[in-house]
Amino acid sequence: MAELALQPLVMEGAGWADYGLIDSGHGRKLERYGPYRFIRPEPQAMWSPRLDAWDAHAEFVPGSDEDGGGRWQFLKDVPRDGWPLSWNQAKFTAQCTPFRHLGFFPDMAPVWDWMRAMVAGRDDAQTLNLFGYTGVGSLALSQCGPVTHVDASKKSVAQARANAELSGMADRPIRWLVDDAGKFTAREVRRGKRYDGIILDPPKFGRGPEGEVWRLEDGLPGLIGDCRRLLDADSRFAFLTVYAVRMSSIAIGGLLAEHFADLPGIIEHGELAVREDGREDGSAGRLLPTAIFARWRNA
Ligand SMILES: C[S@@+](CC[C@H](N)C(=O)[O-])C[C@H]1O[C@@H](n2cnc3c(N)ncnc32)[C@H](O)[C@@H]1O
Repeated sequence: MAELALQPLVMEGAGWADYGLIDSGHGRKLERYGPYRFIRPEPQAMWSPRLDAWDAHAEFVPGSDEDGGGRWQFLKDVPRDGWPLSWNQAKFTAQCTPFRHLGFFPDMAPVWDWMRAMVAGRDDAQTLNLFGYTGVGSLALSQCGPVTHVDASKKSVAQARANAELSGMADRPIRWLVDDAGKFTAREVRRGKRYDGIILDPPKFGRGPEGEVWRLEDGLPGLIGDCRRLLDADSRFAFLTVYAVRMSSIAIGGLLAEHFADLPGIIEHGELAVREDGREDGSAGRLLPTAIFARWRNA
């Protein structure tokens, strides 16, 4: 029966043609998104930058409130309605959003790879992407079977559909749903549905489409319980990420362990981190942590 592996893991992402972490330090990071470079706050980069000067197209200047606020300061021309990027077969629009993100989360790339490996060789794997945002994870999973993509934001779901179109994947079997993740999952449990895999990437705080309040610490235990009810001994995986919260991966691993104990397989936990682009002298870049995760896999 599934037990928690205590030793934490690091799921390390590296840059690719359209994305890279160029440098970090003094509480900021410099990244490339296609032909454009951006500076964003990064409190965990307490070390010193390795480059003398950062040449960027825009910088996100945070407000005084540590939980949000702030604005983009444009230093050079950047297309305000976005520009196309790719990750493997998926194409999507990157854009400077008011929430300091750029329309997708590059640190999730190793997670998208891992999930696909869990259902590799299948074309009938039923997967659920909760808090699916702009859909890059759903596009990746749709190679292996039907995907149910759920997000509370109409705008994010519209962008996810547009990304599917841009990728030439509009005919993939993806249900794009604007719904509250908790309510939808509870409804699926009542309907007796099952899935082969579930990913959930919840924010610390959010709202459902009817204004339903999502607070991670309050909502997560019930949501994990419902996700477990949608999986069975033939299912392949569950993946949970948590970020911007003072919490250990042992804690979320323990939560999965409580609910998944009666399934076969193993529960693992650890950190997602992005490796800076290599240096000119050939040495490896530093590893910048971005989130904690816990995951269940069926052996
Ligand atoms: C960090 S994003 C997920 C990123 C995504 N997994 C990816 O890698 O591209 C969090 C998402 O949660 C959504 N959200 C917030 N509260 C929600 C709720 N109650 N139900 C469903 N989605 C919610 C937001 O609209 C946002 O798109």
